[in-house]
Amino acid sequence: MTRSTLTVLFDQQGGTEVLRYQTQDCPDPGDHEVLVQHAGIGVNYIDIQQRSGRYKVAAFPASLGVEASGRVLAVGPGVSDFKPGDRVAYLHSAGAYTQYRVMPVSRLVSVPEALSLPLVGINLTRGLTAQYLVNDSYAVKPGCTVLVHSAAGGVGQILVQWAVHLGARVIGTVGADHKMAVAKQVGCDAVVLSTEGDMALQVRALTAGEGVHAVYDGIGGEMFEKSLQCLAPSGTLVSYGTPAGEIPPFDVFRLNQMGSLHLTSPSIFTYNKTTEQLRLRSADFFKQLTSGIVRLPEPEYYSFDQAAQAQDALASRQTLGAVGLNLAQASMESSSGMR
Ligand SMILES: NC(=O)c1ccc[n+]([C@@H]2O[C@H](COP(=O)([O-])OP(=O)(O)OC[C@H]3O[C@@H](n4cnc5c(N)ncnc54)[C@H](OP(=O)(O)O)[C@@H]3O)[C@@H](O)[C@H]2O)c1
Repeated sequence: MTRSTLTVLFDQQGGTEVLRYQTQDCPDPGDHEVLVQHAGIGVNYIDIQQRSGRYKVAAFPASLGVEASGRVLAVGPGVSDFKPGDRVAYLHSAGAYTQYRVMPVSRLVSVPEALSLPLVGINLTRGLTAQYLVNDSYAVKPGCTVLVHSAAGGVGQILVQWAVHLGARVIGTVGADHKMAVAKQVGCDAVVLSTEGDMALQVRALTAGEGVHAVYDGIGGEMFEKSLQCLAPSGTLVSYGTPAGEIPPFDVFRLNQMGSLHLTSPSIFTYNKTTEQLRLRSADFFKQLTSGIVRLPEPEYYSFDQAAQAQDALASRQTLGAVGLNLAQASMESSSGMR
């Protein structure tokens, strides 16, 4: 029996008004595939950038969403590691903004019973991002000082807690007063309001003039230059997101002149390309959650018919923590108190 699934699509790039819902056929799972009924769907900046035109899309109508969680409803031939009823999540190419999706098992991870499905579905990308940022982009060590921009945001709150656990002193930045207490609460030793004053001067004052060993910059645009100014010699700038716009052209020789600096512009997909990488890194993230090292804030949940509102909220710069779509059956599980 072919199942139908309501899906968010768009026929041209633009504002959230280009998003539309359409019922489509969802095929049966083929070889090494499973059918997943979604519980939580992450709303991420990459979705906004694909919809708005910052990133190219391959063809129209185009779909959105790189992550979701849910339960396996059916398995195709050759599937031995998953069975109907299993709790799973995934990171994959665009297409998660839908109720049911056929997924290759190679992109699935099992979600521990102790964790809420919708919560994981909208935090997997953020968690996996923090995972490679603290381990690979700049390996956080005891005694180092790092600067985390948007410290009260979705990635930011996870990143701060993880870096503190690994022994870093973390200075956070936030774009609004109401976020300062949140950034402190997750472990920032000091918090700087990025919209006021000279940020580099403030960071230098907080580090006895030295600067920080690494800056995690998920803002981009004009923040890139300010981030460079905050680094100690041999420091690392991790430029991992650009909600504030493209980074102006940059002369690489400046890295030499400013003290043998390092610069990286990483992608989650590089670090989670193989099934083994995805499962190992997800297991590491889930371990931080189940052991209480990283506590996820209550996300900004939207219902499935509110994809546009959810994207607008994330782009508004007002949200704290993750943003995502919580599907009806998932709300029931969420309200049962699982975390
Ligand atoms: N490279 C990767 O592998 C990867 C993977 C996942 C996510 N990301 C990136 O990680 C970053 C954080 O993602 P998130 O989902 O956790 O978002 P978020 O941090 O919860 O929200 C984005 C934040 O960016 C800050 N911001 C500064 N200038 C902005 C502007 N002009 N417009 C909008 N926001 C602005 C705001 O915080 P303040 O005002 O407090 O600064 C805003 O709340 C994003 O850049 C995203 O693209 C990268």
